[in-house]
Amino acid sequence: AKLLVLHGPNLNLLGEREPGIYGRTPLSSIDAGLQADAERAGHTVECMQSNAEHELVDRVQAARRDGTAFILINPAAFTHTSVALRDALAAVALPFIEVHLSNPHTREPFRRHSYFSDVALGVIAGFGADSYRFAMDAALGWLDRRAA
Ligand code: DQA
Repeated sequence: AKLLVLHGPNLNLLGEREPGIYGRTPLSSIDAGLQADAERAGHTVECMQSNAEHELVDRVQAARRDGTAFILINPAAFTHTSVALRDALAAVALPFIEVHLSNPHTREPFRRHSYFSDVALGVIAGFGADSYRFAMDAALGWLDRRAA
C-alpha cells in the first residue's frame, strides 16, 4: 500500500529548532527511517513538508485519487489552528495518525487543543523522532490487519 507522511510548518528546521524540545534528528533522517520501515514491510511512502496550509490541504485532497491508503501527519502549529486541514482529512476519509515529537499536554495551554485528535485513528506524542517510528509501526499493523 501507499502511505503519505505530512509534516507541517517549521519542521523543516528540525535538528536546529529548539533541540531541547524537538531533538537533534533532522527531518531528512526521520523520512529516511520511515521509508526503510515501510519498504521492509512491502509498502511505499511519500513524505512532504510544507509551511503553507493550502499546500497541505491540496496534498490531502489529492490523496483521495492517488491510491493513498494511510496518512501519518504532524500538523505542527496547524494542530492548534487549522479547521481547513482537519476538514480536508475528514473529506478524504482516509485513516490517519496524528504525530508529535513533543507532548503538547505538558507545554503551554494553547497546545492542549488539537483540531485533529477526535478524527484521528490515534495520536502518538512525546517520544521525539521515535514518535514517527511508533506511528509507522501502528500504521503497518493496521494495514496488515486490514489485508488479512
Ligand atoms: C509539534 C507540537 C506543536 O505544538 C508545535 O507547534 C510544533 C511541533 C510537535 O511535533 O511536538 O511545531 O507538532
